[in-house]
Amino acid sequence: MEWTPEARELADLELLLSGAFEPLTGFLAHDDLHAVHERGTLADGTPWPAPVTLHLPVGVSPGEEVTLLDPEGLPLAALTVTGHEPDGLTSGPIKGLGAPEHGPFARLRRTPQEVKAELAGRPALAVTMRGPLGELSEIVATAEELDAVILLLPLSYGEAGPAVVRAALKAKEQLPADTMVVPVPLAPRAEPEIDLELREHVATAYGATEHLAGPEPVSIPGPPHRRGLVVFFTGLSGSGKSTIARGLRDALLELGTRSVTYLDGDVVRHLLSKGLTFSKADRDLNIRRIGFVAAEAARHGGLAICAPIAPYAATRAEVREMVESVGADFLLVHVATPLEECERRDRKGLYAKARAGLIPEFTGISDPYEEPDDADLVIDTTHLTIEAAVTQVLGTLRSGGWLR
Ligand code: ADX
Repeated sequence: MEWTPEARELADLELLLSGAFEPLTGFLAHDDLHAVHERGTLADGTPWPAPVTLHLPVGVSPGEEVTLLDPEGLPLAALTVTGHEPDGLTSGPIKGLGAPEHGPFARLRRTPQEVKAELAGRPALAVTMRGPLGELSEIVATAEELDAVILLLPLSYGEAGPAVVRAALKAKEQLPADTMVVPVPLAPRAEPEIDLELREHVATAYGATEHLAGPEPVSIPGPPHRRGLVVFFTGLSGSGKSTIARGLRDALLELGTRSVTYLDGDVVRHLLSKGLTFSKADRDLNIRRIGFVAAEAARHGGLAICAPIAPYAATRAEVREMVESVGADFLLVHVATPLEECERRDRKGLYAKARAGLIPEFTGISDPYEEPDDADLVIDTTHLTIEAAVTQVLGTLRSGGWLR
């Protein structure tokens, strides 16, 4: 079978294949993982600081071969399954399938073996970096003292990855001519000590005789009025979400200080989600598509307004996660007009049809709506004009600093 691992797992896979995670030859099995947590070793006692795991939520049996693909569908490795836990944790040795590397600064990547060959036995001072280095004199002094080559290892994972490599290349300009820069796609580990130990292991694999951990990146998220934002309205059909969303869009266009992307539920279903039904699977897909587009707009500092029903809490949470993972903010607005009021208004005549059994799976009538418990703003339009509702949302945007 074929499987596309998550970004983090793909980063680990690359390091497993390149030998940067030696002595590991594959994803950790249950007993190794247990030993790592308990003692900081593998089950056989070999020191190893951090979990390196793969989750495969579909059934596979030991002996089976799984082809691991990158998100574009290129085969990266063949995994021979030795263990598969009920929670999806899957272990086994892997074999590279020799797919070409790509991505920003891919040409700078080198395997530990290649780097060691280039060092040719000279001592090396590795500096692992997740952000700019600042003062270089300590590095230069240490390298001189050790008579070592400086090996900058920018840990280029995620959104900030290319910026870290740029920082390393910039630092190289002021360092001795034989300084090497080798990007390493090492995803950060949550616990600082484990992260540091893993960095040491990786540095050693690259031939380092000494390791310095560069300063932690100071993440300056930028002021909210420059950050991307997704305003996500959720609520029953006829609750007023589209009308408020449209009012908000117009108000923002009149102000002219933010670039606006508008993704109304009904509009989305005319093109982006055309042909989808109202089954749970299709509704979820619809919301994920909206979330994907909204996150792309917000990634570039845009403000996206979404207004689908989005009846499922887990799917709304997924969108929040998608948006926050690109460094943007997510604001959930629950348009909480009660069902009775939506049905009384019945602007499109859909509730009458749903009651008559002409529309199956109708939200609120014959299909669920999970009320949010994580809404940033709740608006009931029963006794509220559209202008007042829009003013409330604008007020939230102003007080949060998203609008000046
Ligand atoms: S969602 O559940 O996938 O978020 P979406 O917002 O795209 O729904 O579409 C909802 C709109 O589709 C409603 O405003 C209504 O006009 C129309 N509609 C048609 N059939 C249904 C249905 N079975 N349930 C809810 N809305 C429906």
